[in-house]
Amino acid sequence: MLKPSMNSRYDHAREAADFLLSRTPHRPRIGIILGSGLGAFAQQVQEATTIPYADIPHFPQSTVEGHSGRLVLGTVEGVPVAVMQGRVHAYEGYRMDEVTFPTRVLGLLGVETLIVTNASGGIRPDLTNGMVVGISDHINLSGTNAALGPNEPRFAVGPGSGQRFFDMTAAYSPRLLALAQEQARAQGWAMPTGVYLAVLGPSYETPAEIRAFRTMGADLVGMSTVHEVIVARHMGMEVLGLSLVTNAAAGVSNEAIDHAEVMETGARVADRFSALLLSLVPRITASPQAA
Ligand code: HPA
Repeated sequence: MLKPSMNSRYDHAREAADFLLSRTPHRPRIGIILGSGLGAFAQQVQEATTIPYADIPHFPQSTVEGHSGRLVLGTVEGVPVAVMQGRVHAYEGYRMDEVTFPTRVLGLLGVETLIVTNASGGIRPDLTNGMVVGISDHINLSGTNAALGPNEPRFAVGPGSGQRFFDMTAAYSPRLLALAQEQARAQGWAMPTGVYLAVLGPSYETPAEIRAFRTMGADLVGMSTVHEVIVARHMGMEVLGLSLVTNAAAGVSNEAIDHAEVMETGARVADRFSALLLSLVPRITASPQAA
């Protein structure tokens, strides 16, 4: 069902973006969404203005443990950034326009590159607990699409964006993925790549579902990210997706899946993950975006 006022969706995002721009001298070029257990990177932001989501007009509030709910505006290695510590998910009961609202706001702030991060279950047997995987593509089995509803051309930010139908062929920028792998290598570790499959949640999957997903070509499974990426591509942002494997997907190992494991794994890799982002941010802005 469509929302009462589709116009208000843009107006609210504009209002939130203008509010944020009035609170910082910086004009963010890179947006970073920190997923479950990965919020620690926000401490790396210099000249930081930290704003609770509750203070931002129309911003949705996360109800999940491990999602702080703060937006940090400032710089990383001199590059202006907007860092989201925590996100909301459709399984919390939020509508698609609420789930994607923060990404719309990032776009209206002028963000050109979106780095989305998440926690996931490893479907491919070599993707084990604690690994950071570069997302090469996604399969959206969440049951809905983030761009549902009347098209709003005012959300066009990048060249050629804001279209009713838009291309998802290279949704996850091959250039940024290669750059991330290069930086990981320079820091002494290998970053595998994989296809991320999104489910709605909040129940974890059954072993039969995971077997089906593997047959479909999925390497990772999670409950977020694809909506943000769809909206980011609609707005013409370039996207890098990084996934932290926090557990073997259901049936891949015999162990039950537990949210505490997600948080523990995040804490364990926080330093390595932060070091990667710290080195990546200036590299992203140093090299020109592929046409
Ligand atoms: N399934 C779905 N989402 C997840 C998982 C999982 O196994 N691990 C972390 N997020």
